[in-house]
Amino acid sequence: MSDPELQIVESEAEAARVVAELLAAAARSGTEIALTGGSTPRQAYELTADLEPDWSRAGVWWGDERCVPPDDERSNFRLARESLLDRIEREPRVHRIQGELEPERAAAAYEQELQGVGLDLILLGLGPDGHVASLFPNAPILEERDRLVVSAPAQLEPFVDRVTLTPPALCAGHQVVFLVTGEDKADAVGRAFAGPPGPGTPASLVRSTAGRTLVVLDTAAASNLHG
Ligand code: 6PG
Repeated sequence: MSDPELQIVESEAEAARVVAELLAAAARSGTEIALTGGSTPRQAYELTADLEPDWSRAGVWWGDERCVPPDDERSNFRLARESLLDRIEREPRVHRIQGELEPERAAAAYEQELQGVGLDLILLGLGPDGHVASLFPNAPILEERDRLVVSAPAQLEPFVDRVTLTPPALCAGHQVVFLVTGEDKADAVGRAFAGPPGPGTPASLVRSTAGRTLVVLDTAAASNLHG
């Protein structure tokens, strides 16, 4: 299990650029890429579309989804469609989590789709409470060792059920990349990347087992790591 590498840059825009370059390179080399939801990645996705318009060799997956239809404004798929997929010239193979289904069914279907697939790059965000994907603090699914995808109740807004990759599925990613910006994340960043791992901070449990874990932060999010 690798220690996380921290890359601290001056601004949110620079953090978005670092991640956009990683995503564009991954798309170019035709790998399997899992995207994150939340609001932070929008800028990175838009920049990625400018950097690499040809995604025809890549596969796109999601680390988690809110249980809403794909055109709902809370949908993680919709975020990626608007900020990335609709802006490129050649689409990847799109493997979305079917948020419109009953959560257990959506999780089972995604688990089947993921069987035998190695995710090369998994992009993740971090919640102010330390959650990652839809793995919330002290949730029973943090103990999951066998399943790759499960359903989960939300512990934060938007309060809709979720479908999420489990810790073993996330840790299997060859490159696990966190994108975290803003002062409201500083406390969680300290707990997730500079404290002892534990279920109170789910992101502290997510590290690439065989590859690299990279944490891209702006100075505001990294402010608890200094001194
Ligand atoms: C989601 C996520 C979630 C997100 C964090 C950070 O579906 O909400 O995938 O884990 O990455 O909550 O979200 P923000 O970028 O909005 O702060």
